[in-house]
Amino acid sequence: MKIGVLIGSFTGNNKHLADVIQKELKQLQPDYQFEEIMINQETNKQLTSKNYQYSNFDAYIVGCFTDCLVAPPYVLSYLNNYPQAFLKNKYVLTFNAHGGDGGSVQHNLHQLFLRKEAKPVSHIKIKYCNNYIGLTYPKNELEVQGIKRDQFAQVHPKCVLYNNLLQNKAPYVFPKQSCGPRLGSFLTTPLFKKITNVMSMKYTRK
Ligand SMILES: Cc1cc2nc3c(=O)[nH]c(=O)nc-3n(C[C@H](O)[C@H](O)[C@H](O)COP(=O)(O)O)c2cc1C
Repeated sequence: MKIGVLIGSFTGNNKHLADVIQKELKQLQPDYQFEEIMINQETNKQLTSKNYQYSNFDAYIVGCFTDCLVAPPYVLSYLNNYPQAFLKNKYVLTFNAHGGDGGSVQHNLHQLFLRKEAKPVSHIKIKYCNNYIGLTYPKNELEVQGIKRDQFAQVHPKCVLYNNLLQNKAPYVFPKQSCGPRLGSFLTTPLFKKITNVMSMKYTRK
């Protein structure tokens, strides 16, 4: 089985997390073949090539950093352009190595894959660094020691779930959203905007 690993990473943290996930899955099922696609480079290729070709995989692992509480627009744009036929009915495990508040990345990715009729399985979300210049570069095992080890405990059960689905050993269930993304998505609904408009009119009226 060929699994496409699509990564949006500038300073290497999400690439590191993608490597951890692939290592875990390889232990569960040595037959898996992984192909990494670095979305940053692909975006450049897309812009310069007229005949850019997307790759069709049996399943996907997709992750990126948090950019001002959401998935980076260039990542969403690349995934939006991914042919629906290559994603339809395929299992997708998502991940996000962030700097303290992963924001709505899970929500953004899962909604996008639902629109493509893919099957989001679960989301691995780990704080890799603090949001300060100079602290955003854990690149090797030694530097990664600064990351709380217990956060990595979620990788194993989520990879087991993903592996069970790929091996047809479990029924598919749409993953639960954590409170953060649910609150984030509520803050952008027309209902919330209407409530804030009414409240601001009420309190600014003379
Ligand atoms: C423009 C920009 C905005 C960011 N916004 C957030 C944010 O809202 N929340 C957060 O936790 N981290 C934020 N970060 C930090 C990155 O998500 C974090 O450093 C991540 O681990 C980087 O992943 P990478 O090494 O794969 O590029 C931001 C980083 C940049 C460059």
